[in-house]
Amino acid sequence: MNWDNIDRYAKSLIKEAGHKIRNSFFTQINIDSKADANDLVTNIDREIEQFFISRIKRDFPDHKIVGEEGFGDKVEVLDGVIWMLDPIDGTMNFVHQKRNFAVSLGIYIDGIGMLGYIYDVMRDDFYSAAKGKGAYLNDERLPQLEITPLEQAVIGISASWIAPNRYADHEKMIELVRHCRGTRSYGSAAIEMAYVASGRIDAYISMRLSPWDIAGGMVIAQEVGAVTTNMKGEAPHLLGQETFVVARPGLHEEMLTNYIHLKD
Ligand code: IPD
Ligand code: CA
Ligand code: CA
Repeated sequence: MNWDNIDRYAKSLIKEAGHKIRNSFFTQINIDSKADANDLVTNIDREIEQFFISRIKRDFPDHKIVGEEGFGDKVEVLDGVIWMLDPIDGTMNFVHQKRNFAVSLGIYIDGIGMLGYIYDVMRDDFYSAAKGKGAYLNDERLPQLEITPLEQAVIGISASWIAPNRYADHEKMIELVRHCRGTRSYGSAAIEMAYVASGRIDAYISMRLSPWDIAGGMVIAQEVGAVTTNMKGEAPHLLGQETFVVARPGLHEEMLTNYIHLKD
């Protein structure tokens, strides 16, 4: 497998997708909802996913693709090469703000993350990593993350997880919010992971993410020494929705041990 070639190919595909997304603001965007009224999808999410799939199927016919909008393959095991794609992560931001959304892509072989990309389309910030070769923001290598105590940490968390919810003890989450330096919520899991990797925030947690939300970000975050697990402390299985924590080393353990209490 020539990973350098796949890396160059994936980067140029993502840039092309970014161009299409920016141009879409000059066209009619149709908005639908999926699981509930606030779960938005647009014709652009679908068109971008189809653009990726047609190219990847043409040029890498034996690779599989798992895409959020469902045009890819149905995958039940992680054997072989799998491209995990979120064509637009942060669709609500895409629709409401026209910024703060990203293309997110991870390329895995037999469950091991080899290449990861998060493209913040409107800022033209391209985060990328190849396993064992470091992570980059555009052409600059991202430094290894250092240990930060909770009192000095800024945590990415949605307000939904501070309110009573079916996944975790929200009183403990309130304590977490009280003990950290501050919280932020950007509305795109991929961007929040990119921010952890680049040191803009120190951790990001969510009770419910899908493989395409985290696949690219995990490769990037791991290259700078961030710890990525579900809330039980296990490696994410990448075959369905689950809880998720990414954080600097030390902080990750402190959050899991003292503040994240899952319900049964
Ligand atoms: C969503 C965003 C959001 C996160 C949701 C995701 P989408 O992805 O990443 O920040 O809280 O869980 O589903 O639907 O915009 O691709
Ligand atoms: Ca997403
Ligand atoms: Ca999406």
